[in-house]
Amino acid sequence: MHWPNVRERAKSIKKGEEEQKDKQKDIMKQTLTIPETFLGVGYTKDRAGLPLEAVRVPVRQPAADQVLIRVAASSLNPLEYKLAELNFLGRTPPVVLGLDLSGIVAATGSAVRDVAVGDAVVAMADLNGDGGWGAGNGGEPSYALAKEFLTVPKPESLSFLSAAALPMCFLSAFAGLYGTVGVGDTVYIPGGGGGVGHLAVQMAARVLGAGQVISSGSTSQSMALARQSGAHYVFDYKHDDIAAEIAKLTSGRGADLVFDATYSERGFVETAKAVRRGGSWVVLGVGPGKTTRLVETQSPVDAILTERGVKHINVNILRYFSEPAILDDKAKAFLKRGMTLAMEWARQGLVVPHVGRTIDSTVEAINVGLLSLKSGSATLGKVAVIVDQDMAIDTR
Ligand SMILES: NC(=O)c1ccc[n+]([C@@H]2O[C@H](COP(=O)([O-])OP(=O)(O)OC[C@H]3O[C@@H](n4cnc5c(N)ncnc54)[C@H](OP(=O)(O)O)[C@@H]3O)[C@@H](O)[C@H]2O)c1
Repeated sequence: MHWPNVRERAKSIKKGEEEQKDKQKDIMKQTLTIPETFLGVGYTKDRAGLPLEAVRVPVRQPAADQVLIRVAASSLNPLEYKLAELNFLGRTPPVVLGLDLSGIVAATGSAVRDVAVGDAVVAMADLNGDGGWGAGNGGEPSYALAKEFLTVPKPESLSFLSAAALPMCFLSAFAGLYGTVGVGDTVYIPGGGGGVGHLAVQMAARVLGAGQVISSGSTSQSMALARQSGAHYVFDYKHDDIAAEIAKLTSGRGADLVFDATYSERGFVETAKAVRRGGSWVVLGVGPGKTTRLVETQSPVDAILTERGVKHINVNILRYFSEPAILDDKAKAFLKRGMTLAMEWARQGLVVPHVGRTIDSTVEAINVGLLSLKSGSATLGKVAVIVDQDMAIDTR
């Protein structure tokens, strides 16, 4: 066997670094030559649902407050199959999906100040616009536009893949917990193995100073992820009486705050019963009785909350885009702060996305991934999407 000596090892590291630099130079050159179109993955008919298709779309010029990103990586969110099924933002297809983005800035609008061409960035695409899933698995580059306030520099220590797992889920957890969790609070976050849930548990336990974080799951893996994320107690929501368990842990009072990001009508009723008198029940999305978006159903949740004097707080990232009036300067500053803290806390190892699976950006792989997300099976933490092999895997 030949053991490389120190000099040989140093030579091979140097060669690797030079190859890496050459690759980055190539990517930069390509970034500067922006093609007119790219092959994306999305829906081509109103409410077509899954499966998504490959669709050729123009690469758009950034408006004054927008950044054009050459995409390295993305991740899957339930929102994507819901948009394809319901088209509830009223878009005219074709619509390319892939709203979480990391990559390199390819062009900037005239008013953009905080990032420049060539910067490695992380962003959430405008939810009224197109995303960045390419159908060519890096064979040809793909591009997406993001507003400057939703675009932040990517820390060097964070890979494009991890970074792209953050925007939508992190902002959802941030909107639910930042400013609502008090130091020492007992917080119940159901579904601590989910995309939003595991980040929310980390945020409450490691950053916001919650005294006790309680979570739940239905599989040994998702319950383990909730524990790993910092939950002090994790229950099985299919078998345990969690409200009774929380009462035991809090001398009969109940949790100070529940953050429910599960979109489960049955779950809402259970988690509403776990809040203490005068506490807060924070729900992500449209809330009880409306989760299908198609029909409204009667929900007992408001009656349960009112009877206990619990504050019902609704957070909804999507609303910022469906109701532009609420996306004022204050809201923009809040979202920008969220994106900035996402990078900072990930860099410090405090709120770190768990990538349960990584898939290539192909029509087939994305359809399979979204179907499994929809069925609620086999999704642990986040599913990351490699949009450009060279950028997502080799470079940071
Ligand atoms: N409107 C918005 O701003 C917005 C933004 C982001 C997300 N969302 C919505 O929020 C939901 C969650 O998103 P996600 O990315 O976190 O999805 P996800 O990764 O599929 O996670 C769903 C989680 O919910 C848990 N769960 C399901 N039913 C439950 C119940 N009855 N009690 C406790 N936990 C339960 C699951 O636990 P097990 O796997 O252990 O069963 C899983 O951990 C989706 O519907 C998404 O569309 C809305």
